[in-house]
Amino acid sequence: MANRLPIDDSMAPDGACEWRRSPGGLVSALHPLLRHTPATWVGWAGGTGPAPRLPDIDGVRMHSVSLTAEDLRDHYEGFANGTLWPLYHDAVEQPVYHRRWWEAYQRVNQRFAEAAAAVAEPGGLVWVQDYHLQLVPGLLRALRPDLRIGFFLHVPFPPPELFMQLPRRAELLRGMLGADLIGFQRAQAAHNFAQLVVKVLDLPATDRRIGVDDRVVRVGAYPVSIDTAEMAALAGRPDVTARARRLRHDLGDPQQVILSVDRMDYTKGIEQRLKAYSELLASGDVKVRDTVLVQVAVPSRERVGQYQILRDRVEREVGRINGEFGRVGEPAIHYLNQPFDRAELAALYRVADVMAVTPLRDGMNLVAKEYVAARVDDTGALLLSEFAGAAAELEQAYLVNPHDLEGLKQSLLTALRAGPEDVGDRMRAMRAHLHRHDIRAWARSYLSALDQAGSLVTRLGST
Ligand code: ADP
Ligand code: G6P
Repeated sequence: MANRLPIDDSMAPDGACEWRRSPGGLVSALHPLLRHTPATWVGWAGGTGPAPRLPDIDGVRMHSVSLTAEDLRDHYEGFANGTLWPLYHDAVEQPVYHRRWWEAYQRVNQRFAEAAAAVAEPGGLVWVQDYHLQLVPGLLRALRPDLRIGFFLHVPFPPPELFMQLPRRAELLRGMLGADLIGFQRAQAAHNFAQLVVKVLDLPATDRRIGVDDRVVRVGAYPVSIDTAEMAALAGRPDVTARARRLRHDLGDPQQVILSVDRMDYTKGIEQRLKAYSELLASGDVKVRDTVLVQVAVPSRERVGQYQILRDRVEREVGRINGEFGRVGEPAIHYLNQPFDRAELAALYRVADVMAVTPLRDGMNLVAKEYVAARVDDTGALLLSEFAGAAAELEQAYLVNPHDLEGLKQSLLTALRAGPEDVGDRMRAMRAHLHRHDIRAWARSYLSALDQAGSLVTRLGST
């Protein structure tokens, strides 16, 4: 179960309701995994009002949970995306604390727990995903002690100095501890969690095991991934290859294309990247005729103030850069804020000589992995932030600290000027890694650990 279902109700241009795939890394990871399994996905379909009845998607049952307009404002936009999201991402924007938001978070978590309790088979497995639902494991265990419960956090888990700000920190930790296994993207996050459990709850904890009442909760790092083979197959399709050629032509057949694909989010470092690019244009290190930047930034969480401000600033900056450096028919930046289907994204990845993925903080960043998977001819330079979870795995990327403007400019130039041999060696190594560590390997390692967690509980119970 996750806050989001893999589909989202959005308005068609004629005002009718239409369903489309939800954006974001969680859906990209889980959707290919569950396809054609007997699973039920419990989540929210994106609107307010009564929960819609939904058809199965690719053989997976959809069970929707309703949110009222108040829940949407106080749970999703409020506590989840106004408090937890910024706090968990290094507080790059100020987290906001409101008691009303916390009440909504509790209420909505209870509703999700009840929905899971109603649909889970006796003795079944419920895998709770992400920061919107951190209380669900505890609530669900109270309702259904027969279940095996997993929890996975897709976003970073912050160091104690930051987490300690949370007014309701003890309740959040206790909620997560309702799970048998708590999975994080990185070992550092598991370490942060264990430290907090000792500090706030005074429980015996290591980075791998925590004792809670008569149970042992296991903790570990399970870096999420993508369906590597599917992306590679898509990117290698003749129509996608032809589309990539067409895109390059439409971009004016430049010598080099730089691409960035993000949700419009302040964690993604879009403004810092634009500043670096603009300074490279100003200094003449990059010339508009030779190099173009394609920035895809799909709008996200549009009613949250910080996201509105970011979008305005990004769009103003893109306008300024194009006004100053572009020519008629030759913009410096091609800015696209639309959702694309997978084939179009694959074509964009294939056209990018340099992929710039420079978040200020990111749990994983699946775009970086999608790019690598799509480079079926082992070409293409990945410029990757050290602050993305993906950097721990894609070590051969051109790594960069996006807070360091000069460093960002230099690394972008290094990636643009790298020789084909260096680029090829790095890409081959990253592709080999992703081939072994795809989304199925992730699910296998998590679920087998969850299995062991269960037997540990049984063993403890029988002694
Ligand atoms: P986050 O989880 O923060 O959104 P990720 O990089 O992990 O970041 O995942 C983003 C996902 O959203 C990727 O699978 C990417 O392909 C998808 N995505 C990003 N932009 C678009 C877009 N314009 N249209 C469709 N999908 C997109
Ligand atoms: C990140 C979060 C997901 C979320 C996605 C899109 O990937 O970890 O839980 O679904 O962003 O954000 P949204 O607010 O549109 O669900």
